[in-house]
Amino acid sequence: MKTKSKILIIAGSDSSGGAGIQADIKTVTALGSYAMTAVTAVTVQNTNGVASVVAIKPSEIGKQILFTCKDIKPNAIKIGMLHSSQVIFSVVNALQKVKTSKIILDPVMIAKGGTRLINKSAIKTLKEKLIKKAYLITPNIPEAEILTKMKINTLEDMIHAAKILQKLGVKNVLLKGGHRKSVYIQDVLLSGKQVTVFKNKKITTKNTHGTGCTLSSAITTFLSCGKPLKKSCELGIKYVNQGIGSNPNNGKGNGPINHLNSIIIVKKFRL
Ligand SMILES: Nc1ncnc2c1ncn2[C@@H]1O[C@H](COP(=O)(O)OP(=O)(O)OP(=O)(O)O)[C@@H](O)[C@H]1O
Ligand SMILES: [Mg+2]
Repeated sequence: MKTKSKILIIAGSDSSGGAGIQADIKTVTALGSYAMTAVTAVTVQNTNGVASVVAIKPSEIGKQILFTCKDIKPNAIKIGMLHSSQVIFSVVNALQKVKTSKIILDPVMIAKGGTRLINKSAIKTLKEKLIKKAYLITPNIPEAEILTKMKINTLEDMIHAAKILQKLGVKNVLLKGGHRKSVYIQDVLLSGKQVTVFKNKKITTKNTHGTGCTLSSAITTFLSCGKPLKKSCELGIKYVNQGIGSNPNNGKGNGPINHLNSIIIVKKFRL
């Protein structure tokens, strides 16, 4: 099978393989594209939680981006965990030289088990320097609450928060609804002035480790192949939903999803 596009992933490593750069590579590969990486941090974790995090030097992160992209130009870039202001500055500087218009930013802040993954000054830098460079941002509800300083309980709150986030300088916001207590999950896409709500049945399972990383990588893959934004989000959400539904039940805690559920989606996904 010929790969459809090339994607650079800037994110942290999850030793348990369910989230982070491992989930990103699996997703991009399963959906038929070529994955490159710039590792920002190495976490020691399993499905029960994060034991430790070792940061990669900011200058090395910038160098991974530039040296890799100088050789193989990516069609799109997915950004995940950036834990400090210095790392964000290094990424912003490197991206200025890479010149890719399709940057998808998943503003990862808290791991599923509750561990805070980035510090306060990094959140400020993210808001002021990086969000405006992105084509799309994909916060979950707790992240959107931190970024907007508002409480999000209802669908109306989600739409309102997405509009506030847009004011940070990004045209497209996908606010993920996985953290709301409801029978159906609603993910809200705000693109310009257009609001789209994707509604899916909530699957009852503890195995949702890496759903956010997987979703943003799936959307990046579809976008990198020229699919429109709304369709890319719809397909990405479907990929995650089916991945949760067929999860392998690995580990004793929040287990990973099934990244190999892509076969039906890939068959339908022709350019
Ligand atoms: N139990 C579930 N059933 C069906 N879909 C789900 C479930 N949990 C999450 N999703 C979907 O997974 C996607 C990711 O949403 P979520 O809010 O979990 O992101 P996240 O919190 O960033 O994930 P992570 O903790 O991996 O970073 C969304 O499309 C959401 O609707
Ligand atoms: Mg997340």
